[in-house]
Amino acid sequence: MIKKVAILANGGDVSGFNAVIRGIVKTAENHNVECYGFIEGYKGLLNNEFIRLDKTNIASGILAKGGSIIGSSTNANVFKYKQEENGQVVYKDLSDVCVENVRKDEFDCIFTLGGDSTQKSARDFCVKGLNIIGVPKTIDNDVACTDITFGYNTAVSVATEAIDRLHTTAETHHRIMVLEVMGREAGWIALESAIAGGADVALIPEIPYDIEKAAEKIKRRQEIGKNFSIVVVSEGAFPKGGNISTKNERDGGEGVINVQLGGAGEKVAKELEKLTGLTSRCTVLGYMQRGGTPTAYDRVLSTKYGSKAMELALEEKFGVLTVLKNGKLDYVPLEEVVGDNKELGAVQGGTTNSNVRVVTMDDDLVKTARNIGICLGD
Ligand code: F6P
Repeated sequence: MIKKVAILANGGDVSGFNAVIRGIVKTAENHNVECYGFIEGYKGLLNNEFIRLDKTNIASGILAKGGSIIGSSTNANVFKYKQEENGQVVYKDLSDVCVENVRKDEFDCIFTLGGDSTQKSARDFCVKGLNIIGVPKTIDNDVACTDITFGYNTAVSVATEAIDRLHTTAETHHRIMVLEVMGREAGWIALESAIAGGADVALIPEIPYDIEKAAEKIKRRQEIGKNFSIVVVSEGAFPKGGNISTKNERDGGEGVINVQLGGAGEKVAKELEKLTGLTSRCTVLGYMQRGGTPTAYDRVLSTKYGSKAMELALEEKFGVLTVLKNGKLDYVPLEEVVGDNKELGAVQGGTTNSNVRVVTMDDDLVKTARNIGICLGD
């Protein structure tokens, strides 16, 4: 019988974290289960810092609130945790400390709200014997085995509004407006917002681009009197035979994504200006996509995911991720979510054996974009 559960939110924040927390807490309370929240994701699990979550405290009135009321950590692979010893950086496997903390406080289940890396650690904790249920989060929409992650719809909606606003200024000044959106390995945000906003070009990591093709599309528009164009670029997009654009190396420890992306949009803007003769400007949308209130869709999806996760806990179905498959709530084993990346503590994402969900060429979004003449840079 489940009596006491805890939630942790991990990785980059998204709109909808709190709606998931609320969905879990409310469902738990309806079944007389006590709910707690670890502070700052896996860091809280390691430091054994948690708070009680119930409808009389901070878990109340949070449905429309951005961020996470229990924080989140972006640099916490507790299987290879960065520490300093005698002035030297060392990486230590502190996962057993986490397991001990969970056992000591008698948590019957831990809910891990996070993206592919968070769910990789979640699966690794299952191997170590903890009862875990994952909930798929990320604005990039690239968690394997689910059609959609919470936070994605809000990001697309923010990007679409930005495209609408760029349209009017582009038209007024006869410019190419490039919008750089997030999406490290997957171009979902760029592709969907390009369709929603009526962009002319969308460049995504899955299709290494030929800048000449994008320029040709813009020139064809000039020929019919359209002296402006909108180009959406994923931060992870790169030219054929070229590299992704990076900004900084971040030393967040082994097992976390260490490279900060940046510059993809600016690069495209400069090259298009040269090739077309039109003035070009780049806007980087950045963290706007992750902050603020969730869309109605994300509020509902997050609530569904949260309540489903608690239902699964009550049924004692552990080691799984809540997913949406063809519009229906479901769950899949975390083993399936991490794919071939079975080594404990290994990094997820950007590796050959990782299982992130990228845009495939037979996806309806790709077909639709091509049908309506959006240039995908190929
Ligand atoms: O994975 C989600 C994401 O928003 C990426 O699109 C982006 O590259 C990254 O997080 C940025 O992370 P950080 O918060 O560490 O800068």
